[in-house]
Amino acid sequence: MKKSKMFLDVSRLKHAGLILLLFVGFSFSGNAMGSNSFLSGHTLTVFAQAGQTGAKATTKKAVKKEEANVTAESRPYDKIDPQFKGIGPGNNRMKFILSVVVLLLAFGGMIKGKGAVKKVSGIVALLALGMIGKITYVEARALGRQQGYAPVQPIWFSHKVHVTQNKIDCEYCHVDARTSRHAGVPSLNVCMNCHSQVKEGSVSGKKEIAKIYEHLGLDPNTLAKVKPGKPVEWVKVHNLPDHVYFNHAQHVQAGKVECQECHGPVEKMNRVVEFKELAMGDFCLDCHRKRGIDTSNPYYKHYNFKKLMEEEGVDKITVDKIGGADCSSCHY
Ligand code: HEC
Ligand code: HEC
Ligand code: HEC
Ligand code: HEC
Ligand code: HEC
Repeated sequence: MKKSKMFLDVSRLKHAGLILLLFVGFSFSGNAMGSNSFLSGHTLTVFAQAGQTGAKATTKKAVKKEEANVTAESRPYDKIDPQFKGIGPGNNRMKFILSVVVLLLAFGGMIKGKGAVKKVSGIVALLALGMIGKITYVEARALGRQQGYAPVQPIWFSHKVHVTQNKIDCEYCHVDARTSRHAGVPSLNVCMNCHSQVKEGSVSGKKEIAKIYEHLGLDPNTLAKVKPGKPVEWVKVHNLPDHVYFNHAQHVQAGKVECQECHGPVEKMNRVVEFKELAMGDFCLDCHRKRGIDTSNPYYKHYNFKKLMEEEGVDKITVDKIGGADCSSCHY
């Protein structure tokens, strides 16, 4: 039997080929919201790796176009900081396609081959199947998640310039983090507390700060109101699925959790990137099972935590003990 015929019998591969085509088609189909999984078009990792793109691009081509727009607008300073590039699971699409091809070839070997060829083909097929299983698992988990997402914002707002270089506290701008569900993004009036004086930045000159005046409808020289303003459409970076309830006050005020534990070193970012994978198990529940609550919180004065700790022989009450692992705490 000729070797080439042994490994590739086209008539037998027809159906498998069709399935492969379907998978490839599926993996390239874009999804407007996007997530880290190629099963939904793999848009967000593409964004972060291209490093210059906005939220609307869903394909590599669109990403390139947006990149060109940013360059045309000449924002050479607007890049993802090198140390935050490539965060996220990476792109498994090529590995997946390769595994499927190897699997098909191995099937060919199993059907047509004899003796050692048959055995080796069997082993290769098993390995390829294992790989496909693993990638499918990783990619399915990444559906709806956006670690590494770093969209271009309408104004180049640098946390590094403001927090590290100018020592502004997070809560000066994100005033609601301690008291309400959403940390919130400051209104332009908060910016004007300083930018009514500071009209020039050392990196971007007058260009980016002028956009604050433009959006408020102010004359850049006199700062007098000359026309109606229009709000800035900041692109939201962190997005939990709609079925999840998350509350900032619960964590920042009651739980005494630092912003950076969940958002990473934002103070070092010139462009905000979703630093951690906001996953139910490895992120939310992992902390809830380990972290002790503040038992001196007056809110808990009716609970007899001391007795509970003695009974269980532990030195802290972890969040899961007060309901932090119940489905209904986090899900609607
Ligand atoms: C001078 C005001 C200011 C300060 C100070 C500030 N931020 Fe921000 N922050 C903003 C603005 C404006 C945005 C929206 C634009 C953007 O995403 O870059 C933002 C966005 C964010 C986001 C992304 C929100 C989203 O869309 O998901 C996070 C997280 C964040 N800030 C955390 C912090 C942390 C942590 C600190 C302190 C280390 C901090 N910020 C300090 C103004 C500020
Ligand atoms: C326990 C983890 C955790 C901590 C601590 C935390 N955040 Fe968040 N933050 C999140 C999650 C999760 C989201 C996404 C929420 C959503 O999509 O509903 C978010 C969203 C945001 C946003 C986007 C707007 C909003 O409110 O949804 C900003 C801004 C922000 N956080 C700033 C902060 C700042 C500033 C601090 C510290 C004062 C902080 N966060 C502390 C987990 C955390
Ligand atoms: C507490 C004061 C303060 C607040 C509030 C503030 N800024 Fe700034 N900002 C500064 C200072 C100071 C600089 C100049 C830093 C430098 O030397 O470049 C600056 C610089 C900038 C720059 C230019 C950065 C550069 O280096 O080229 C931009 C753009 C900017 N701010 C946007 C904003 C926006 C948007 C807001 C509101 C969300 C805001 N700032 C709120 C103090 C502030
Ligand atoms: C770094 C640690 C940490 C992370 C990560 C974290 N939490 Fe929490 N969470 C806490 C602490 C501490 C409390 C207890 C606050 C208190 O004392 O009431 C808490 C309380 C809660 C509660 C209230 C529980 C109850 O029944 O009283 C909910 C709901 C919650 N977290 C949701 C989330 C979700 C959703 C995520 C992931 C997106 C998350 N948390 C991630 C530390 C964390
Ligand atoms: C501490 C908060 C928290 C608790 C408790 C919690 N979940 Fe989740 N859950 C999340 C978050 C956040 C997500 C979305 C992020 C992700 O993809 O993991 C999620 C996603 C899910 C999903 C969607 C699957 C997925 O991966 O997107 C299902 C189903 C789910 N949870 C079921 C449950 C069930 C059942 C329980 C109770 C045994 C539970 N959850 C308890 C926070 C929680």
